[in-house]
Order: sequence, then structure tokens, then C-alpha cells
Amino acid sequence: MSRAPDMTLSPATLVERDGDKGGPSADRRAINLTLNVWRQKDRQSVGKFVTYQARDISPDMSFLEMLDVVNEGLIGRGEEPIAFDHDCREGICGQCGVVVDGAAHGPRPQTTTCQLHIRSFRDGESITIEPWRAASFPVIKDLMVDRGALDRIIASGGFVSVRTGNAPDGNAIPVSKDSADLAMDAAACIGCGACVAACPNASASLFTAAKVAHLNLLPQGQPERDRRVVAMVEKMDDEGFGSCSNHAECEAACPKAIGIEFISRMYRDYLRAGMTGRKKP
Ligand code: SF4
Ligand code: FES
Repeated sequence: MSRAPDMTLSPATLVERDGDKGGPSADRRAINLTLNVWRQKDRQSVGKFVTYQARDISPDMSFLEMLDVVNEGLIGRGEEPIAFDHDCREGICGQCGVVVDGAAHGPRPQTTTCQLHIRSFRDGESITIEPWRAASFPVIKDLMVDRGALDRIIASGGFVSVRTGNAPDGNAIPVSKDSADLAMDAAACIGCGACVAACPNASASLFTAAKVAHLNLLPQGQPERDRRVVAMVEKMDDEGFGSCSNHAECEAACPKAIGIEFISRMYRDYLRAGMTGRKKP
């Protein structure tokens, strides 16, 4: 049975369906899934969907563990396993990320693909799995995309220049609680790229805004504040990402709940930098 993305389900419904009110799923029967997976040999090849059966999958497995099981079967039959990105499998590194039934990172809000569990799906469901779709994220193979464009945005200005020497005393630079809290919210961005994949314009505004804000909000980020925001916004454009048109799909897809108010903050900083004339060198 196919199912539309679960973004429309209320949190209460999701909790009931997951059976994870602080405890394990009540229904532990293994389930079967039909997977329609995007297969693409390399960057130059034309891709296509291939259907696989995932059988006897524990509801307590993660989505990536389910793909591991499917891959073991493929390898056992002498077939090419499905390539997908992952590293920490704890929602920290930002490496994982696929589009599941049209939703970046799948149906559960604020959940990376590696933390999505099979108990979010029903026995017999048909699931479509695709890579991030964005011109600036070329497909490397199957579900893996090249997100180097995000790294290049960070390299253009997502740092502070400091004199080396002894470590400064803790709390030597006072930071207001409001600024510290906001900077921490922005710093939660794991660079997964789901915001780009979810945006109809494939904009990287939410990612860039988070990376600009977590430095521009702190005293240590002030000397390079104007140059940073100009360099990062212009690099984002150079990399071919689209413009923000306030759809807010990025915020809905973000596994770390980064809010679109950071985009407003970034463009306020960008305008301010233009007015003060302190652009990048
Ligand atoms: S803003 Fe959210 S969705 Fe975008 S890269 Fe950062 S964590 Fe991922
Ligand atoms: S594998 Fe690290 S966030 Fe998913």
C-alpha cells in the first residue's frame, strides 16, 4: 500500500503509530516493504528507479539499517549494493540524507534519515527513496550526492581569524544569554543539505544563514561580520543555489529545527554590510 509523506500527521498520531511513548514498540512483528530506489551508476549516467523487496525488517531498525539488510541481500546475489551516505548514525554528522516519499529525511519531523525508524512505516508499504535533488548537488552514485558546495560556502567566510597563543580564560569575553542561545540554535546545523533538497528553488539560504549567524551573533565574530556575510551570500549564489522565496519548506525539513528567521537576519546583515561599505576585500 503506498502512502503519502507523513508530514500531514499530527505529532500525537505519529507517537501513537510509532508506539514510542518512552518505550519500545508494542507491535514487534517484522514487516515487509517494497522499495523503489533511485539507481544511478555515476554522475554521467542516466538514473532510474529499481524495485526491491525488504523482507522481515524489524520495526526497531533504523532506515539505514534496513538499507544495510537490503544491501546484504544484493551482495549475496552478486548484485551492486545501493550506495548511500552515512557516518555517525546519531543525527550529528549531517552525512546521511535521502528523500523518502517526497520528504527530505523522511516522514518524521526533526529527524535525520539515520534516526528514522522502520516503526514509522506500515507492513506492506511501498516507499520511494531518492537522492537530494538540486543542480548544485550532483549525484555521485545512487543516493549519494556531492555536497561540496556547502563546504565551499563555509570556506568563503564561516570562520573567525584569531591570534594563536595561550588559551584565553573562560568567560573572559562576556556573551549575553540571548545571543548565546541564538548562536547555539544556529550552530545546531549539521550541514545535511535537506533544506536545499526541500526548497522549490534549491536555495541554500537556511544553511548559509545558520552558518553566518552562529558566528555573527558572538563577540568573536564581530571583526569579520560584514566581510563574512557578503562572502558567504555571494558564494552561495556563485555555487548555483536558488534564491529564497519564503516557502519555508527548508524549516519544515530541517532535522535541527533551524528557523527561517535566521534567513531574515542574514539578509539584514548583508544589507548592513553593503551600506557600511565594508565588503569582502
Ligand atoms: S539548516 Fe537544517 S536542513 Fe539545512 S543543512 Fe543545516 S541542519 Fe540540514
Ligand atoms: S549519519 Fe550522521 S547525521 Fe545521519
